[in-house]
Amino acid sequence: MVLCLVPHFLSLPRHPHSKHLDCRNYPHRTVVKPVCVFRPPILAATREEAAGLRVFVVSDLHTDYSENMTWVRGLSRERHRNDVLLVAGDVAETYNNFVLTMSLLKDTFEHVFYVPGNHDLWCRHDDHSCFDSLQKLEKLLDACQRIGVETKPVILDGLGIIPLISWYHESFDREMDVTGFHIPPLEMACKDFHACKWPDGLTNDENSLALYFDAMNDKNKGLVKEIKSVCSQIISFSHFLPRQELCPEKRMLFYPKLPKIIGSDFLESRIRSIHGTKGSVSACHVFGHTHFCWDALLDGIRYVQAPLAYPRERKRRMNGGEDWLPFCIYHAGTFAERLSPCYWCDYYAKNPRTPDFTQLAPWVARFYSRLP
Ligand SMILES: [Fe+2]
Repeated sequence: MVLCLVPHFLSLPRHPHSKHLDCRNYPHRTVVKPVCVFRPPILAATREEAAGLRVFVVSDLHTDYSENMTWVRGLSRERHRNDVLLVAGDVAETYNNFVLTMSLLKDTFEHVFYVPGNHDLWCRHDDHSCFDSLQKLEKLLDACQRIGVETKPVILDGLGIIPLISWYHESFDREMDVTGFHIPPLEMACKDFHACKWPDGLTNDENSLALYFDAMNDKNKGLVKEIKSVCSQIISFSHFLPRQELCPEKRMLFYPKLPKIIGSDFLESRIRSIHGTKGSVSACHVFGHTHFCWDALLDGIRYVQAPLAYPRERKRRMNGGEDWLPFCIYHAGTFAERLSPCYWCDYYAKNPRTPDFTQLAPWVARFYSRLP
């Protein structure tokens, strides 16, 4: 993800289903102990013996961390030589790590697809051949073409695969803000505001970046139209979130302003233009960015996140370990069973969102001082 200042901003320190915890009300503050609750492993969704196209998904590889690069190196070529991998952004900050990672993945999988994440477009440590983040994007897409990584829509064995480029905008967040605490502004907490460089006319202040990135998908309109006419099963994927319901509510988050830098309404419109306003039993969208594993059906479309995330987050079993990754979402014409356990997603399957209740969760409140 993108945040600094407070360590483990995104890592939620306790199981949302704790019997001690009613996340909508916090009368039990003294009962909840500030310790990690053991999280059972998520089981890998694979059926090794049967033949047929297998599609795996993963996001947020962050291979600037050597542990994550080691994880990529450890993927089995033998097991995946006929498989497809969708990489939903945030591969690496540096160009060299990006190229190495995508080359390793292409050596492992028969087909690799990619959409850019925010970290991929940071210009902090790269040489000066990239003046801004758009030039870096172009360089990354050129590298993908050289390596053989797909960045455009394709049909594979009757399955449509559609990468969607996107960027976030602040107005994506429509839920009530948490007030009364010293919560750092986005410019202080989000490294994108310093590490990404944009040409004149593009800023994080309004919708300009989100619109600009969304418009990049227009060049694939013909391919998407063809896929829609031919394929009954389609997987689309992006780095950012298309719906706010795919992230916990602000009061649960270590950085309560997070929903302002995670998603795009334009992305959701594009997804609906592909899968239909009502979706279908075969409509699936994969995303990344927030580092929370997720698997939810919203208005007829299945939304899935399967993030590798940071080593420290895996150590704390934020998403039930790493043995289930990459997640096999599709095999021989059939979509995988719902990811389980899926922590915060499971919590919201049982509890309604109550965003008007803005009292910080106890594990969040201890990080912030009250305004006078
Ligand atoms: Fe990201």
